[in-house]
Amino acid sequence: MRKDLLGIRDLSQEEIFCFLEAAKKQKEKVKNRHLRGNSLTGASIATLFYENSTRTKMSFLLAAEYLGAYADDLNISTSSVAKGETLIDTGLTLEAMGVNAIIIRHSMVGSAHLLAQNVKCSVINGGDGSNEHPTQALLDIFTMWEHMHEFKGLNVTIVGDVANSRVARSNIFALNKLGAKVIVAGPATLLSGNMCAFGVTVTTNVADAVKNADVVMGLRVQLERHKACQFPSLHEYAHFFGINTELLKHTRKDAIIMHPAPVNRGVEISSGVMDCEASVIYRQVENGVAMRMGILETLINK
Ligand code: CP
Repeated sequence: MRKDLLGIRDLSQEEIFCFLEAAKKQKEKVKNRHLRGNSLTGASIATLFYENSTRTKMSFLLAAEYLGAYADDLNISTSSVAKGETLIDTGLTLEAMGVNAIIIRHSMVGSAHLLAQNVKCSVINGGDGSNEHPTQALLDIFTMWEHMHEFKGLNVTIVGDVANSRVARSNIFALNKLGAKVIVAGPATLLSGNMCAFGVTVTTNVADAVKNADVVMGLRVQLERHKACQFPSLHEYAHFFGINTELLKHTRKDAIIMHPAPVNRGVEISSGVMDCEASVIYRQVENGVAMRMGILETLINK
């Protein structure tokens, strides 16, 4: 097993299934404290997040503790990063304190790779710019696997701000490797020109794109990454590209609705859809803890 988890692009199909099986083994422990083990007793992990997070950071901290490890977060705003300490020096400092794994989120593409090349402990990419978010994709495909049991022939439609989404990229890499078919849909300004090179179908017609979908995955509109106005208004975006009850009339009856969250309710997905029976958005959050437990155990106990 490799030292680091930096992206889905580098993983084999066998490695992806290894992580799915690892998460399956951990799933029951998320909500049943009596089942939580001590397989990582004495190990320690640190989260190093230069960008905001609720799910990824908290679920890694809890995952480590559920397995008996020490876990702590380096609060970037009160750390010596504010005094100019570099990413590599910060990583080396955490390593010198004995951490076995660092989970990093940074706006710079390749930041996790840079850190991994400079420390001996495991590095896990918690999101690097618009490049990859591998642990999110692993928990997403784990959630699909729980519902559909099979990836070959699975139809997945990803809707929204694809151009800026590391979640979309990591999911596309994973789903391609597993034999699923992916359609990406959204406003032309948010579908980057080279999307076809990723082996997906690209369209601006969301109603058509969801017709045969087993999975409809919304994406957050990442306003913080937009350099210019990409669509006239949020209201208009919601009207043409939002996932709402009207759009669900075009989907298969058994389709599931996913979103990595956080969600802009009423923009990329309506409240009605977010809270409907087909929505597995909070199941994704629950699976995120199980997947991160599986990832930590796999990497640290390699
Ligand atoms: N999906 C996701 O990465 O959520 P956070 O930004 O809250 O970690």
